[in-house]
Amino acid sequence: MSRIAVIPGDGIGPEVIAEALRLLELLRGKGRSFSWDVFPFSAETFLRDGRAMPLEALGQLAGYDAILLGAFGDPRIPDMAHGREVVLGLRQGLDLYVNMRPVRLLLPELTPLKRGGASEIDFVVLRENTEGLYAHAGGFLHRGTRNETALQTSVDTRFGIERFLRYAFALAAARPIAKLTLVDKHNALRFSGDLWYRTFLEVASAFSSVSAEHRFIDAACAELVLNPGHFSVIAADNLFGDILGDLGAALAGGLGFAPSANINPETGKGMFEPIHGSAPDIAGRGIANPCAALLACAMMVEHLGDKEAAMAIEKAVRKSLAEGALTRDAGGTLSTSEMGKAVMARMDIP
Ligand code: IPM
Ligand code: MG
Repeated sequence: MSRIAVIPGDGIGPEVIAEALRLLELLRGKGRSFSWDVFPFSAETFLRDGRAMPLEALGQLAGYDAILLGAFGDPRIPDMAHGREVVLGLRQGLDLYVNMRPVRLLLPELTPLKRGGASEIDFVVLRENTEGLYAHAGGFLHRGTRNETALQTSVDTRFGIERFLRYAFALAAARPIAKLTLVDKHNALRFSGDLWYRTFLEVASAFSSVSAEHRFIDAACAELVLNPGHFSVIAADNLFGDILGDLGAALAGGLGFAPSANINPETGKGMFEPIHGSAPDIAGRGIANPCAALLACAMMVEHLGDKEAAMAIEKAVRKSLAEGALTRDAGGTLSTSEMGKAVMARMDIP
């Protein structure tokens, strides 16, 4: 029995997570044993208690086999303090040091690219998920005065980079195209970038079956638009990975289709989430695209050991799209729950 902690969050988070839970119900009806508890951590709890989640929540959530998260963001908390508390707090607190963002074009018409090659969009953005500019190192001097100074320090450790790159190379080695592209900016970032690049060269030498190459972040962005078929596994630090994940999602039809996994390969802990935000502009209207949440669910069940169910979900999403079931963000007319139903009706699973 797998135990799942569900954190729907804000905005469209609860709407898309509702579809993911219907999908888990369906799988349960097919003999899969899942149970879940819902945790209401959100902007509401933050505004009420001054914290989005109680201090003991981290220990409690660590006891689950997986966490399924919706989205965070609320106009009443413009700096996203509550979202950082939960999302970054869990990534760091549970040491989920790999963030995996697969980029796959599920339907050729969904890419905004007008040139050929779109069918070859099939790569993974791997993002170091606990360090870099997200390490919360820095501070203000003379805040609020004309002399104010902000420091935001990138924390990059040899240990953190190496364990992340080892995972990235092992993943690349197992893919049909065993290629890994390190994306950094070591021509300008002479400390953090240099450590990343040197560690990359060293880890690469231990994975001779993987073709290892390097791109600077700016050039990588251009190449991703011009020739996305070039890439197989992209490995980057926390901030560059954040940006590349959204760029990849846009190439493959938009944030409505982009799932992600935050994992610690050693402890087996994992948190699964659509990469989109809470979309306050459309929240409550029942029109959000649930595909990213359903695909995050697929990544979760695969992580929990059920590859068959994961493949069935992905196939059902592809089939729905191919048969014209689309939400508004993708040019269709379906509501969130109609899209969820379309996918579930096509689930072919024993
Ligand atoms: C993401 C988000 C978060 C991040 C925000 C909400 C802090 O953009 O998951 O990509 O930057 O990691
Ligand atoms: Mg992001």
